[in-house]
Amino acid sequence: MDQPDEVILKAEGLSRTINGIRILDHVSITIRRGEIWAVVGPSGAGKSSFLRLLNRLDEPQEGKIWFHNQEIFSFPPRELRRRVALVLQDANLFPGTVKENIQFGPNQRGVFLSEDVVDDLLNRVGLSGFKDRDVQNLSGGEAQRVSLARTLANTPEILLLDEVTSSLDDRAKKEIEELVTTIIREQGITCLMITHDIQQAVRIATHAMLLEQGKLVRCGSVQEVIDA
Ligand SMILES: Nc1ncnc2c1ncn2[C@@H]1O[C@H](COP(=O)(O)OP(=O)(O)OP(=O)(O)O)[C@@H](O)[C@H]1O
Ligand SMILES: [Mg+2]
Repeated sequence: MDQPDEVILKAEGLSRTINGIRILDHVSITIRRGEIWAVVGPSGAGKSSFLRLLNRLDEPQEGKIWFHNQEIFSFPPRELRRRVALVLQDANLFPGTVKENIQFGPNQRGVFLSEDVVDDLLNRVGLSGFKDRDVQNLSGGEAQRVSLARTLANTPEILLLDEVTSSLDDRAKKEIEELVTTIIREQGITCLMITHDIQQAVRIATHAMLLEQGKLVRCGSVQEVIDA
């Protein structure tokens, strides 16, 4: 059984260089199960690039990453990306109904999600009754909820959120934020969320890491990092 203080993800000395420019420079971090990390720093600091290394959307030139004490390249990429799931700013739904979008991922690995399971997922993201809606006609906030439900359908252990609320208005932003907080706490999901909103970081996160020019300049409890 997993312990609450179990190290779930560990990165050591991650560096990535593109076209001679070092976009990540020896980043090391230890994440324990259930922690909620805010990833903060100026535009271009390497925040998105960092998250993309954690589920092998990109590879570092230097450094290693362990998920449950196993180097991440020992997991098949598809399995890794299911368990360490990235959600982006834009929902990126494919044309079709809400239900089709939610069933797609599990289907890919031979798991059929029944109507009841889809209903339950939609209830959890506050979209009961949306199952047969065409995704084309959803608001930005609704689309982002479907995107979350679709990710949760794959039962991730770690959620990587890249500015998931930044294209939403204040009200939708608060709603998605509350939803994410409730879901990750209830299910003990570990989370790394990029945000430009310091108040949001303080509201949600337990820990924070500050990146500047590819370097990890501070990390620790959210209060320590934000107050420094
Ligand atoms: N595929 C790529 N090719 C070339 N440069 C890249 C690539 N991906 C990222 N970069 C560069 O790496 C740096 C870090 O980019 P990244 O997207 O990780 O920053 P960020 O902290 O997420 O910024 P923002 O807050 O604006 O989203 C930037 O200078 C960016 O231009
Ligand atoms: Mg980014």
